Amino acid sequence: MVTITNEEKLEIQGLAGERSLTGAIQVGGAKNAILKVLAGTILFADEVNLFNVPDIEDVRQTIKLLIDLGAKVNQTDKHSYIVDTRNLTQTIIEPIISKNLRASVVLTGPLLARFGRVSFPHPGGCVIGKRPIDLFLSSFEAMGAKVELKNDLYEIVATGGKLRGANIFLKIQSVTVTETLMMAAVLAEGKTVLKNCALEPEIVSLGEFLKKCGAQISGLGTSTIEIEGGDLLLCQGQIYHTIPDRIEAGSFLILASLLAKDVTIADCEPKHLDAVIDFLKSSGVNFEIGDNYIRVRDNNTTSFIANDLKTHEYPGFPTDLQAPMSVFLSQANGQSFIFETIFEGRLNCLESLERMGVKVKILDSHRAIIDGPNELTGKELFSPDLRGGLAYVIAGLLAKGKTNVHNVGYIDRGYENLEERLSVLGADIKRTKI
Ligand code: EPU
Repeated sequence: MVTITNEEKLEIQGLAGERSLTGAIQVGGAKNAILKVLAGTILFADEVNLFNVPDIEDVRQTIKLLIDLGAKVNQTDKHSYIVDTRNLTQTIIEPIISKNLRASVVLTGPLLARFGRVSFPHPGGCVIGKRPIDLFLSSFEAMGAKVELKNDLYEIVATGGKLRGANIFLKIQSVTVTETLMMAAVLAEGKTVLKNCALEPEIVSLGEFLKKCGAQISGLGTSTIEIEGGDLLLCQGQIYHTIPDRIEAGSFLILASLLAKDVTIADCEPKHLDAVIDFLKSSGVNFEIGDNYIRVRDNNTTSFIANDLKTHEYPGFPTDLQAPMSVFLSQANGQSFIFETIFEGRLNCLESLERMGVKVKILDSHRAIIDGPNELTGKELFSPDLRGGLAYVIAGLLAKGKTNVHNVGYIDRGYENLEERLSVLGADIKRTKI
């Protein structure tokens, strides 16, 4: 069960479909890249310099976990840190935070590889499905570790104090499993071959940085990654610059498609957004794509066409953008079929969209049909998770009247100062106490 404080809400005055947003919105560093690099600092024998770190709750929580383990973390400005794990001694990942943060599981790989042991509770996070950890556990066993569950903590110990390289086939392509095992293998004895790896750009970014600092990794961005284990890594003053958050960029692109007079999504990486760009284009949205920006100007919303949406591992359509794109589809002409293939809890947000006026039929936990276009009216909404919360913000801005989005804590996990950045574009959105 995830604890989210509910002392604040976002109050949104809807634009009733008027395409008036104007200006530029900068995309921040990718949450799902930096959280893994923070875990990766455990593999280093010196200080690690991190730049373009988003100021979001999941980063703050991960830093608390590192400090609790014994790391020194020095914030040099709003978006930069120096992390020093040389005096790290603890191998128990703090349970209260860990139970609320799925990404905490990624710390298990570097800790187990460096110290030969790690203890942690079942990691929590957004309530978007079952989110098991069987693949982590069976892979650690394949690398020579013993796994026990004692008093609600997994206790994993590497036999002989050191993990051994192994050949591992992952029955599911998983982002955090790929990252965790890649990092574990960096300090294991001998060679590890991981097959059916996930291909997300955040994994490549992590791996490239580890390679720059001495790790022997090949096959990044392909389904087979090979790692030759070695000694602790050395940063030696090099910098990890967090890649742009493709999910944040995609969220803003969807919002702009619906409500922009002239909006530029700046500092993004369009080549990480192929599936989203293709989907919007084939639904009738026009935009201009530059090297590191996307500009959306005055689309004719009434001409958007229904489109079938199927989520898929990268480079397919990201599950993290399914909820925001469902809001887009509520404005398109005709019937759209949504197939969420990765998580079984991510269609939950459609029930609230239905209360706002979206004609939607939820067929089962993975499939739904939306009939558009629909006029939306403002409502009291409770974010079910991070991306569902963002979908509600888009729906609130699109609607007639006022929408309050509660459970803002979910949105704060992944979007820095959302209301301030959207206000700059002319959106009427503010954070208020309850
Ligand atoms: N799975 C298993 N066993 C495991 C691990 C995963 O069955 O041991 C299953 C999951 O239940 C799911 C599938 O594998 O059905 C794929 O999930 P994956 O493991 O790839 O998800 P994740 O690594 O837990 C990351 C992101 C998510 C993002 C997914 C999919 C992080 C911290 N989280 O989660 O991001 O939705 O990949 O792209 O990197 C978010 O940012 O809002 C978010 C939830």
